[in-house]
Amino acid sequence: MSDEKNPSGINRRKFLAAGWGVALVALVGQAGLAMSNYLKPGKQAGGFGGEVVAGKPQEFKPGTVSLVQGGRYYISALENGGYLAMWWRCTHLGCTVPWVAGEKQFHCPCHGSLYNDKGEVIGGPAPRPLDLFPITLVDGNLVVNTGEPIAREKYDPSQEFHV
Ligand code: FES
Repeated sequence: MSDEKNPSGINRRKFLAAGWGVALVALVGQAGLAMSNYLKPGKQAGGFGGEVVAGKPQEFKPGTVSLVQGGRYYISALENGGYLAMWWRCTHLGCTVPWVAGEKQFHCPCHGSLYNDKGEVIGGPAPRPLDLFPITLVDGNLVVNTGEPIAREKYDPSQEFHV
């Protein structure tokens, strides 16, 4: 293959290598951005990153935890009538944490962190409780703003939403 230099002094091989380098950097950047958007809330309405309707308060029986898949959160309806909206993301390294109703605990499948129905850590390496999302009542529905996760050091009753 010819490796002739053009008048600017850049040979064809170097030019192509530089082009591939630029394309690779752009591709990695796009993939990183897509991953970042997936992992962190954005500003989209109606889905994760925006306001996501959970349902009417009376649909959530006291003492139960319900998944709201589209918002990536759980509604914990506490026995005292309070509600917490908790992000399903483990505060250790970010794995999705399922609720195990039979044990009334969240069990992180990655490294074994355990949380109770208020999101408090009761075992494992998680450094703090599950993050909260703010709840408001709109047209009789609990509406959760998944664009504003609230990190907390511990559970406090003031974090509960009461109708
Ligand atoms: S990511 Fe949940 S315990 Fe490590």
